[in-house]
Amino acid sequence: MKGIILAGGKNSRLYPATMAVSKQLLPVYDKPMIYYPLSVLMLAGLRDILLISTPQDVPLFQRLLGDGSQLGMSFTYAVQHEPKGLADAFLVGEDHIGSDTACLVLGDNVFHGHGLQELVLEASALQSGCTLFGYTVTNPQDYGVAEVDAGGRLISVEEKPAKPKSSTVITGLYFYDNDVVEISRNVKPSARGEIEIADVNNHYIERGAAQLVHLGRGMAWLDTGTPEGLLQASEFVQVLEHRQGEQIACIEEVAWRMGFIDIEQLARLGEGMRSSAYGRHVLRLADEGSQYPGRP
Ligand code: G1P
Repeated sequence: MKGIILAGGKNSRLYPATMAVSKQLLPVYDKPMIYYPLSVLMLAGLRDILLISTPQDVPLFQRLLGDGSQLGMSFTYAVQHEPKGLADAFLVGEDHIGSDTACLVLGDNVFHGHGLQELVLEASALQSGCTLFGYTVTNPQDYGVAEVDAGGRLISVEEKPAKPKSSTVITGLYFYDNDVVEISRNVKPSARGEIEIADVNNHYIERGAAQLVHLGRGMAWLDTGTPEGLLQASEFVQVLEHRQGEQIACIEEVAWRMGFIDIEQLARLGEGMRSSAYGRHVLRLADEGSQYPGRP
């Protein structure tokens, strides 16, 4: 399965913070926002990732993440000249996907919770159809809203409806079979001129090929789209990291635990960041890991 991170858009709801730099490069507490969705793809075992962003921001993402070899991964980059809708990612990413299955994650989506890795690993094994993740929120009208029948089966998805049919919304993490490219190509632009992911999902639903996995109350899916949301997400991460002494979305740690890099490489990465608490966390892991060679 190939991974795609979509990190474009103007993000004008965060102006002026995002006038000169992409929102997905802003920090959520102690690390760039993009680390959070990237770490979810890594936990799903995906190593071949295409990052799509604006012409101005692609060079910044390249400076931050490089070609991915330092993490035992491969990162490539593509430009989306103007926001054409989320499903456009599958057209921009057509060559990257090739004949493989695909996972799209939005560059501003922060997920955290026990058991998340099992869920995304299972989804990444998908052979046909699509897997979507649902989450209960108090403001469903701001998202893609799921209509579900009494048995919990997905009936339809509606993008930002004035009258939401439920409080379950579709998060920005989507797993598809290879048909997603062709389906996206045939989706007609909506009234706002975008190729809507909701239309792609409804196509799968009509075929009886969409699965909705509900992320329960123990799982955090945080909003980063407004100054308040961004601050709350930072506070959430700070509270947990401080309390547990663990890092959330530390991509170097995930790469090591997933077996993408060895302990020597983990130590090298930590060394380059030893002035920050984040870097010292990486160094500590490398040190502890070398004392217990069985880990991870
Ligand atoms: C997009 C999708 C929406 C989804 C949301 C998740 O909305 O269009 O269906 O629920 O991401 O983050 P946006 O945040 O781009 O308005």
